[in-house]
Amino acid sequence: MSKRVGLLTGGGDCPGLNAVIRAAARRSFDRGYEVIGVREGWRGLVEGKHEVLGRREISGLLPRGGTILGTSRTNPYKLDGGVDQVLGHFGDLGLDALVAIGGEDTLGVAARLYAEHELPVVGVPKTIDNDLSATDYTFGFDTAVFICTEAIDRLHTTAESHNRVMVVEVMGRHTGWIAVLSGIAGGADVILIPEQPMPIDDVCTTLRKRHGNGKDFSIVVVSEGYELEGLEDAGEVDQFGHVRLGNRGVGDTLAQQIEDRTGFETRVTVLGHVQRGGSPTPRDRVLATRYGLKAADLVHEGRFGRMAALQGDTIVDVSLAEATAELKTVPPEWFEVARAFFG
Ligand code: F6P
Repeated sequence: MSKRVGLLTGGGDCPGLNAVIRAAARRSFDRGYEVIGVREGWRGLVEGKHEVLGRREISGLLPRGGTILGTSRTNPYKLDGGVDQVLGHFGDLGLDALVAIGGEDTLGVAARLYAEHELPVVGVPKTIDNDLSATDYTFGFDTAVFICTEAIDRLHTTAESHNRVMVVEVMGRHTGWIAVLSGIAGGADVILIPEQPMPIDDVCTTLRKRHGNGKDFSIVVVSEGYELEGLEDAGEVDQFGHVRLGNRGVGDTLAQQIEDRTGFETRVTVLGHVQRGGSPTPRDRVLATRYGLKAADLVHEGRFGRMAALQGDTIVDVSLAEATAELKTVPPEWFEVARAFFG
């Protein structure tokens, strides 16, 4: 029996979204299913925005960053009548299933719609932050780490030439995955993440010791969510209750404090949305492709309320509820690898 399958990308974009769309659509076409692209995340189902996807629309997507479907941080649970509109448009479109590609917010909505309304939905774990539970990796993360590592390599050469401390602020929201992995790969001298709140005094002591041992430059990688004394969250929150951590300016404040306390000339680089742009790494293309095929298979088998996940090197499925119950933080043993090279 033929099916109509909806695909939706929500939350912050990241490299690999289009590769998931391509894979899920290709496998669905092979089964004779129709594929509908829902525009701009949950907003598309609230407002009824969609497009029919055929083989031509999904051609050439593998290396392309961003998402051809558009995305948003719309939360139907925060809009008057939002959930009813989602359910209504799902019915009007004649959808049999929905593949929601997103992070904790987008998939949190999917988990609720499944639990409360039996919406036939499956999930695919996306985010550069790598903070979703029940999966070893989300796609998009490897590309972000690659971009940050390259930036750290470049900052090394200029830091060395000028005898400077370079502070590099990276994304990651309330977890330090990007900071830890790119910091290890780039040989950072200090890495600061929300899970391991190293005080500024200790940071300066480490840098002084390093410079005392004959080094004239240092690289400090700081996660945007690192708690620095005196720094407050500011500005509006989005529909999922998140403030924009990038607005806190943790990198700037940290750089100023390091310079004031140590006397070492210090500069800051905030990598920002560069971390989410451009073409996915081969690893992310492959992971996104495997996730897309798995999601299409879950739809075919009618196994809803599930999410494609990576455990070890195997693609499995886990419950959406489990994946979104809590954030996956950086375990101490990962931080210990980084700390072995501090100073
Ligand atoms: O969740 C992905 C992410 O890039 C976070 O690392 C960051 O805090 C946030 O999104 C930035 O959001 P926006 O694109 O809305 O500025």
